[in-house]
Amino acid sequence: MPLSIFFFIHFLFYTTSYADIPLGSTLTPSNPNTNWTSPNNVFSVTFIPISSTNPTSFSAAISFSGIPVWKAGGDFGIVDSSARFELQLSGNLRLTNGSGSLVWESRTSNKGISNGTLDGSGNLSLRNESVTIWSSFDNPTDTILPGQNFTTSKSLRSGLYSFLLLDSGNLSLRWNSDVIYWNQALNSSFRGNLSSPGLVLQQTGVLQLFDSTLSVPVNMAYSSDYGEGTDVLRFLRLDSDGNLRIYSSGRGDGTSTERWAAVSDQCKVYGWCGNFGICSYNDSSIPVCGCPSQNFEFSDPNESRKGCKRKVEIEACPSNTALLELDHTQFLTYPPELSSQVVILGVSACRENCRGGGSCVASTALADGTGRCYLKVSSFLSGWQSPALPSKSFIKICSPGLLNPSPSTVNPNQRRPRKQQDWVVAVVVACSLVGVVLLQGGVWLWCCRKTPMGLSAQHALLEYVSGAPVQFSYKELQRSTKGFKDKLGAVEFERGNVNDIVDERLAEDQVDMEQVTRAIKSTLSQLREIVMLPHRGSAWTMILIDDAAKKKLRRK
Ligand SMILES: *[C@@H]1O[C@H](CO)[C@@H](O)[C@H](O)[C@H]1NC(C)=O
Ligand SMILES: *[C@@H]1O[C@H](CO)[C@@H](O)[C@H](O)[C@H]1NC(C)=O
Ligand SMILES: *[C@@H]1O[C@H](CO)[C@@H](O)[C@H](O)[C@H]1NC(C)=O
Ligand SMILES: *[C@@H]1O[C@H](CO)[C@@H](O)[C@H](O)[C@H]1NC(C)=O
Ligand SMILES: *[C@@H]1O[C@H](CO)[C@@H](O)[C@H](O)[C@H]1NC(C)=O
Ligand SMILES: *[C@@H]1O[C@H](CO)[C@@H](O)[C@H](O)[C@H]1NC(C)=O
Ligand SMILES: *[C@@H]1O[C@H](CO)[C@@H](O)[C@H](O)[C@H]1NC(C)=O
Ligand SMILES: *[C@@H]1O[C@H](CO)[C@@H](O)[C@H](O)[C@H]1NC(C)=O
Ligand SMILES: *[C@@H]1O[C@H](CO)[C@@H](O)[C@H](O)[C@H]1NC(C)=O
Ligand SMILES: *[C@@H]1O[C@H](CO)[C@@H](O)[C@H](O)[C@H]1NC(C)=O
Ligand SMILES: *[C@@H]1O[C@H](CO)[C@@H](O)[C@H](O)[C@H]1NC(C)=O
Repeated sequence: MPLSIFFFIHFLFYTTSYADIPLGSTLTPSNPNTNWTSPNNVFSVTFIPISSTNPTSFSAAISFSGIPVWKAGGDFGIVDSSARFELQLSGNLRLTNGSGSLVWESRTSNKGISNGTLDGSGNLSLRNESVTIWSSFDNPTDTILPGQNFTTSKSLRSGLYSFLLLDSGNLSLRWNSDVIYWNQALNSSFRGNLSSPGLVLQQTGVLQLFDSTLSVPVNMAYSSDYGEGTDVLRFLRLDSDGNLRIYSSGRGDGTSTERWAAVSDQCKVYGWCGNFGICSYNDSSIPVCGCPSQNFEFSDPNESRKGCKRKVEIEACPSNTALLELDHTQFLTYPPELSSQVVILGVSACRENCRGGGSCVASTALADGTGRCYLKVSSFLSGWQSPALPSKSFIKICSPGLLNPSPSTVNPNQRRPRKQQDWVVAVVVACSLVGVVLLQGGVWLWCCRKTPMGLSAQHALLEYVSGAPVQFSYKELQRSTKGFKDKLGAVEFERGNVNDIVDERLAEDQVDMEQVTRAIKSTLSQLREIVMLPHRGSAWTMILIDDAAKKKLRRK
């Protein structure tokens, strides 16, 4: 059966039937067997605990196998175990806390609503005889489900983060409603407004932008398992960490797998580590939050994401301030701050201008060849740090400045003399890694030709015929090459055998192995995707790309 017909049937099955919710129905957290379930048993409205560590706080949610996809009141709808969620006789849907106080309501009293319905696509709606008065699809919280039409008047919210679709067709992620830390335009040449754009996540995992002025919908993002699987639900969610992701989840398994993320490097999400927080990667791909220097301490020692504060406030030392130099560190600067805080200055002028400016709390010299310097005058600072980052930052503190201990001084025994320049190490490591990945890919291709193709490969071929680039994420390739990649570099690296994948000449030279390790890690973390470009005949070119290159490719 052709894939498209299959999905069509699948979609029909998901949407055609709905369950009635009579007026007067009530749900309570204490009785999980009171729930409103869609006729296909895929979605249900029920109270779910906000976390396993906090089993006494609940959200009234539409859930898919225990995963909430809509929450009454969003982040503000957290209630205790005596709460009630009821469809009142007046037709109003409301959530009250144990104390009886109103937490959220649909404001649909006396509008002729005869009952509520939950349909097979997860849409909870309140209709009168002729029209839908209120629906969860029209009032999303942090998630978009397949078939849901997300328009410019709607937003997804999670904590201080929000996701919007603009009239221009741009997708944008914002912190505190104004700082735009991610923006994806329709295409590079289009400057103008669409008429009434709608963003829809298709069941197959492609995020499409519709508009009456567009002859065909524009594909804005693909989930990495695009077109695969049969009984899979995909959804788009703005997570509490400020990243927008597509997930897929098998029916009944209660878990979801990340398939696409808008911001590829979590440390670039504005404010993720709170005010004065510095985001970095510690040994693994999991980002961690720290403070700029020992002149700072965590605002809440139990929650590093809540940011840092000065041990001594600047006001307490008016004649004794200094600018502490932080290597490989950048203070994030996005629109609208970009226009007011960017100047073109050399590194030392970038520091001196901040020292002189009374309102300047910190500055960053990008040192990336653009000559740019950010003079931070805002009261909120969000930083990130990476060994691969050429930038230097300066932060105002009360003297004396106390740098954080660097990883190498923590372990003085393992420290070896440093002979190579940083960039030599980085280049050699990057070249080795590219070689390793190309080799893996080659073996993988060779292997795949001999095995029967799965659904996904067939689908990939369809795309190949249509001329679109076929993509495999690094993870997928890693998975596919399991079994014979043991001798290869990435695995050696995972085992800690750094010497085995580094150019022999470097190893002989007694380089600083910690430095090499850091460079490898940052290189690996940047190899986001591998793209197979079809060539004439049966040849393929495999290239490694980052997100910027990915966007360019997609437009072609
Ligand atoms: C809904 O209630 C039924 C019993 O009425 C129960 O078997 C089922 O597990 C409940 N579903 C959820 C998601 O709580
Ligand atoms: C509901 O009540 C609990 C205490 O019983 C409280 O912690 C919680 O904040 C209340 N929720 C709202 C939304 O007012
Ligand atoms: C349903 O609601 C619409 C809009 O509020 C209204 O125009 C219509 O008359 C209502 N129909 C009934 C049967 O109440
Ligand atoms: C509930 O609403 C649906 C859709 O509006 C309608 O078809 C159905 O007859 C209603 N059921 C009852 C019991 O009123
Ligand atoms: C689902 O949501 C849409 C709004 O996006 C609404 O128009 C539609 O009527 C809803 N579905 C049902 C079955 O009521
Ligand atoms: C849309 O995105 C483009 C490209 O990033 C940008 O130049 C433009 O200013 C954005 N438009 C709006 C209205 O944000
Ligand atoms: C960009 O989008 C506009 C509006 O749909 C379209 O006319 C134009 O051809 C697109 N340009 C490219 C390079 O895709
Ligand atoms: C697009 O619409 C906004 C208001 O929604 C308006 O301010 C802006 O000037 C329009 N841009 C163009 C290019 O028409
Ligand atoms: C989405 O909603 C807008 C506004 O209601 C509408 O103009 C558009 O046709 C809808 N798009 C789709 C794909 O349903
Ligand atoms: C980073 O890793 C080191 C050891 O690998 C550990 O001691 C330290 O607690 C980690 N830091 C954070 C913030 O997780
Ligand atoms: C941190 O957690 C400990 C134990 O869980 C608690 O005693 C302490 O009060 C907490 N500190 C803060 C600042 O919340």
